[in-house]
Amino acid sequence: MKTRFPTATKTQGHDGSKSSSVLRVFVSSCLCGNGARRRSSIAVIALCLSGCGVNNMRDGSRFKPYEQSPFYADGQSSRPLPQGTIPRGQLAIGAMHTGLDDKGQQVKSNPLSATREILNTGRERYNMSCALCHGRDGYGEGIIVQRGFVKPPSFHEERLRKAPDGHYFSVMTHGFGAMYPQVERLSVQDRWAVVHYVRALQLSQNAAPGDVPAGKKLAEAPR
Ligand code: HEC
Repeated sequence: MKTRFPTATKTQGHDGSKSSSVLRVFVSSCLCGNGARRRSSIAVIALCLSGCGVNNMRDGSRFKPYEQSPFYADGQSSRPLPQGTIPRGQLAIGAMHTGLDDKGQQVKSNPLSATREILNTGRERYNMSCALCHGRDGYGEGIIVQRGFVKPPSFHEERLRKAPDGHYFSVMTHGFGAMYPQVERLSVQDRWAVVHYVRALQLSQNAAPGDVPAGKKLAEAPR
C-alpha cells in the first residue's frame, strides 16, 4: 500500500510553515517509490539532514577572484592557465567545429539543421557582419566596397553556389585573402547559421520552378 502524506496546500494551512510542507511533499514523493529507489531516497534525505546548517565550502577560508597572495612568487592567488588550455565547449573536434570531414575535406552540408529560428539568426548575423562588404543581397557591393575596399566575389556566381558549406565556414573561421576572420564576432553556431542564410540568398536569386516542393505554391511576392 502506498504511504500518503497531506499535499503541500493542506499542510501549509495547517502549520503555516512553507519549508516544512515542501520537505513533506519531497519525503512523501520519495517514499512512494519501489524498494531500491526508496532506500536510496532515504540515504539522500539522511545526507541532506546531516548537512543542514553546515556549509563548509561556502564559509571556509578561500581566495576571491584576482586576490593577492604572498604564497606564490608572482603574488597572485590565481594560477596561470597551462599553455593550450581550451575553454569548456570550444574544443575544435568534429565537423561542427572544424568544417572538415574525417578525411580532412570541407563538409558538403551544414551540420546544423535549417530551422526558421536558425535562418533568422543567420539573417541577423549576416546583416551585421557580412553585408557591409558583401551587400544585403550578396552581390558584393556593400557600403565599404562603395567606399573603396576590395570588392568580394558575388555569392551568386556559379563557383560559389557550388562550393561546399564547409568552404563558407572555413572562410569565416580563417579569413580569405583580403577578408579577415570572423571568429571574434561569430560563434561556431552563428557561422553555420550564416551559411544557411547565404544559401537562402543564393536560392532567392537562382530558384527554378523545380525547387518548389510538389503540391506547394510560391507565396505572392510583397508589392
Ligand atoms: C570587410 C569586408 C568583409 C566582410 C565584413 C566580410 N567579407 Fe567575405 N570577403 C571580403 C573580400 C574582400 C573577399 C574577397 C577576398 C579575396 O579574394 O582576397 C571576401 C570573400 C568571401 C568569400 C569568397 C571566398 C572565395 O572562395 O572566393 C566568402 C564565402 C565570404 N567572403 C563570406 C563572408 C561572410 C559569410 C561574411 C560574414 C560573416 C563575410 N564574408 C564578411 C570582404 C568581407
